[in-house]
Amino acid sequence: MTHFPTPPTLFSFPLSQTISADRPGAVLRLLEAARKNALLYLPGHPQVAQSLHEFHGGLTVILKARPSVHFDVYEDAFFLGDRILLEESLHASGLLEQLMAQRVGSLEFLQGVSLEEAARLVEILVAASGGGPAVGDAVAEANLHYIKTGPPRTQSIDEAKEALIAPRELYRIGLRTMDALNYQAVQGSPLNLRNARLLANSMVKVILQDRNALLGVAALYQHDEDTCHHSVNVAVLSLMLGLRMGLEETMLPALGTAALLHDVGKMRIPRSLLGKSSHLTATEQSVLERHTIHGAALVQHLRGLSQTAMLVALEHHLNYDLSGYPRLLKVEHQHLFTQVVAIGDFFDASTSARRTDRKPLLPDQAVQTIVAGAGTRFEPNLAKLFFHTVGAYPVGSVVRLSSGEIAVVYRTAEGHPLQPPLKMVRDAQGTVIDPVPVDLSQDGRRIAYSIDPIKASIDLAAYL
Ligand SMILES: [Fe+2]
Ligand SMILES: [Fe+2]
Repeated sequence: MTHFPTPPTLFSFPLSQTISADRPGAVLRLLEAARKNALLYLPGHPQVAQSLHEFHGGLTVILKARPSVHFDVYEDAFFLGDRILLEESLHASGLLEQLMAQRVGSLEFLQGVSLEEAARLVEILVAASGGGPAVGDAVAEANLHYIKTGPPRTQSIDEAKEALIAPRELYRIGLRTMDALNYQAVQGSPLNLRNARLLANSMVKVILQDRNALLGVAALYQHDEDTCHHSVNVAVLSLMLGLRMGLEETMLPALGTAALLHDVGKMRIPRSLLGKSSHLTATEQSVLERHTIHGAALVQHLRGLSQTAMLVALEHHLNYDLSGYPRLLKVEHQHLFTQVVAIGDFFDASTSARRTDRKPLLPDQAVQTIVAGAGTRFEPNLAKLFFHTVGAYPVGSVVRLSSGEIAVVYRTAEGHPLQPPLKMVRDAQGTVIDPVPVDLSQDGRRIAYSIDPIKASIDLAAYL
């Protein structure tokens, strides 16, 4: 058995010092760090000892507040009770994968766990990944008193009771996940597909519970230019449309994953070209267009991913009438998922200042453009359905009423695309007022026109 030396006192353990007792999931990330270091370095290396001490320090903090902490490994994620630990599942994905592969269904730590037992667990994990005894058997055999593993759950977690992540937190986690995936694409290393799927899955669950919630958050970031915001926004819009068109719930995660990855090929295009503000030369344009081919190549060999993500990456700049690019593509029609993602993609790209040589459209103008492109650029039924999904004035639109007041669309119009729920934020004289809900169906007023929230100095975050 390897003995982990106690590090000299000059080591500091910043992670365990900042760990808070109300986020027990953080110990999984510390365990993952300890596991990775023990895999990378020889026993006795200071890095191994330090991360082990951090893991044990984290456990001590968490277990001060409770007698034990029990994590379930279920459906590709860590759970704490009925709450998915999405961030921990994404960041400790190596540990999660190993536990799933070894059919370990739970991991429990009890108050009083010693550094030696923590070290033994890390050692067992490292040995198992090198072909040693299975984790569950080895833990049982080691006779650990304060660390227990259990078999996979036989009872599923009740979806109705599953505590969901707050939409803003999910969006933030989504950005970080896309950042990591994009980085993998830049490096040429295999994409962590499981993480994209896990993210898409959580997005589906949140949208199914509240169709507006994520759309409101996405509207806040409509103007952000980077690819991470774009990918998450396109996934939200695609899922909204997918749900509206009656796609089976089981198909939604695949649609979300394909939407998240649709532009991943951009990571293989020089940044200078992506951010270019002036018009592109023909050569530059053709280099940019190749992000579709690069994207398809990046996702096509990923295990467990259906062909759809590859097709969506390849076809999303192809139009419904098969104009667009890649030009040499010999297809008779776009995949249904591409048709959905192409609409979300256009909406988000055209409303942001991503292509700085072009003035962004206001959300209602983007919807009008999509409706006008029904049958040529976009699949006609989906284009119309998109109008009914987000309304004529999508969430985040700022409008002037016929009576002169300014209002913000804060929820999607249900059944009345021209009469979305509004919050009045300026009176007819332009004075800032406390937000007042307005229901246009009960009111003689109508929307006169939309205005740019940035020009009107309206902070959407205060109203959505
Ligand atoms: Fe694209
Ligand atoms: Fe895109």
